[in-house]
Amino acid sequence: MSEQQRPKRDSTGEPSQPGGADRLRRRVVQAGLGLFGVGYAGAIAYPIYRYLQSPARRAATESAVTEVSLPDADKLEPGSALMFLFGSRPAMLIRHLDDTWVAFDAVCTHLGCTVKFEPKNNRIFCACHGGTYDPKTGAAVAGPPPKGLTVYRVEVKDGEVIVSRS
Ligand code: FES
Repeated sequence: MSEQQRPKRDSTGEPSQPGGADRLRRRVVQAGLGLFGVGYAGAIAYPIYRYLQSPARRAATESAVTEVSLPDADKLEPGSALMFLFGSRPAMLIRHLDDTWVAFDAVCTHLGCTVKFEPKNNRIFCACHGGTYDPKTGAAVAGPPPKGLTVYRVEVKDGEVIVSRS
């Protein structure tokens, strides 16, 4: 029997049927590879999508919050500060020795480090590059910050401190 007359055999040794098990196996393997490719592409694309989307989502979250209530914050000692979150951003409430209240966004306007109130030095300080802000107004007074801190409105009412966008 010549090579051309001999029936072709599949991997099980059975004579292969044109368009039969081999074709089916090929399609199953192709479908599996296709699904794997889609899953692999999704595993790469999803984190990129989340990364690119997060600034917009963060901005939406921040702008959605217009007021924060701080129960028991009226017990804050004069000459001290309380850190809290205004939406997703760090913020600080300061009760000065003269019993005035101020609140600021606590993100340095230079490169975004979180600032800290230093009552002994009477300043708000950024340890990253030495930026200094006025603790009464939030104005930038020394170092690299290009502008002052965002100021919030403070209202003390019935033992509760309410901080809101100005
Ligand atoms: S990040 Fe605050 S001074 Fe640079």
